[in-house]
Amino acid sequence: MAGVTNSVFRRICKARGADVLTTEFVSAEGIMHRNERTEHYVDFQPEERPLGVQLFGAEPEQLARGARAVMDWKQPDFIDINFGCPVNKVVCKNGGSALLRDGELLAAIASAVVRAVAPVPVTAKIRIGWDAQSVNATENAKRLEEAGVKRLTVHGRTRAQGYSGEADWDVIAAVAEAVHIPVVGNGDINAAEVAVRRWTQAPVSGLMVGRAAMNSPWIFQEMKAAFRGEDAPPAPTLSDRWDLIEDHCRQELARWRKTEKGMHAMRSRLMAYSRGMPASRELRRRFGAVESLDELAAIRAWHENAGHAIEEPDEQEATPADAALG
Ligand SMILES: Cc1cc2nc3c(=O)[nH]c(=O)nc-3n(C[C@H](O)[C@H](O)[C@H](O)COP(=O)(O)O)c2cc1C
Repeated sequence: MAGVTNSVFRRICKARGADVLTTEFVSAEGIMHRNERTEHYVDFQPEERPLGVQLFGAEPEQLARGARAVMDWKQPDFIDINFGCPVNKVVCKNGGSALLRDGELLAAIASAVVRAVAPVPVTAKIRIGWDAQSVNATENAKRLEEAGVKRLTVHGRTRAQGYSGEADWDVIAAVAEAVHIPVVGNGDINAAEVAVRRWTQAPVSGLMVGRAAMNSPWIFQEMKAAFRGEDAPPAPTLSDRWDLIEDHCRQELARWRKTEKGMHAMRSRLMAYSRGMPASRELRRRFGAVESLDELAAIRAWHENAGHAIEEPDEQEATPADAALG
């Protein structure tokens, strides 16, 4: 997830049970510049393997060149192609979900990338269609399979839905039945019991979790326990949540020359963590002004001692990240 799943956060998820990780999407064109920002997007630690770098772009040759370049540079375990991003600035350049409307180009891109990095596997992520009138996931899945894609993730929403409404798991199931490659289902998995229900409903080979991990990366181990038929692991305590928040910030800040800049960059992540925590509204207000780890520690002290006693209506505000992607 853009702005979320960097190496630090991926390791947080891996330590809590995530099996396969993917970088946030990276422009295939941008890869060629090999600048500091691109390096941050594609860099990873050995313990993150198996890891894929996700690329987006609009032209077969551009994506093939980008994929080859990132293979030579970082040697990820697979390359993933993004055919799902709904954001205007990507779609208007014919990238991401815009390609769902052009099956031939989508297949040409996949073939070019498969050829460029063989024998390294190429995977892809699609949405179920552009809008409710043009749901074509099965058709696109067959094209991608034929192009040599080895695994396909299907996000059960159309581009028009953005991140609202419900993911359509019937379409995900239909895709999984129609192709021979493994299909990973994605959309609205926010609890272990939901994961189990979706797994029984659709013949998928894997499940992908997006937004729920931003707030609770423990979801992966909770899902695994449920699949093994074990009791749910103890829910994270308030103190566990704070330990994670502080540890996440500490790790992030290590790569920033100026602490305040690093903390500013962490604010949207802090907003996501605040969801479901007591006194979340006041917590968000304080997170919105935090400048240093010391200030964060002071917020923790306030929250653990007194903040949790503040009564607030139970509301879920959109994070800035949600708004940007809306
Ligand atoms: C902030 C944000 C950034 C995202 N960035 C990406 C991305 O870079 N690549 C991608 O394939 N999907 C991206 N997604 C979509 C998620 O991977 C996922 O498909 C979607 O959120 C639905 O799953 P969920 O209901 O579990 O969140 C992003 C979603 C969010 C909320």
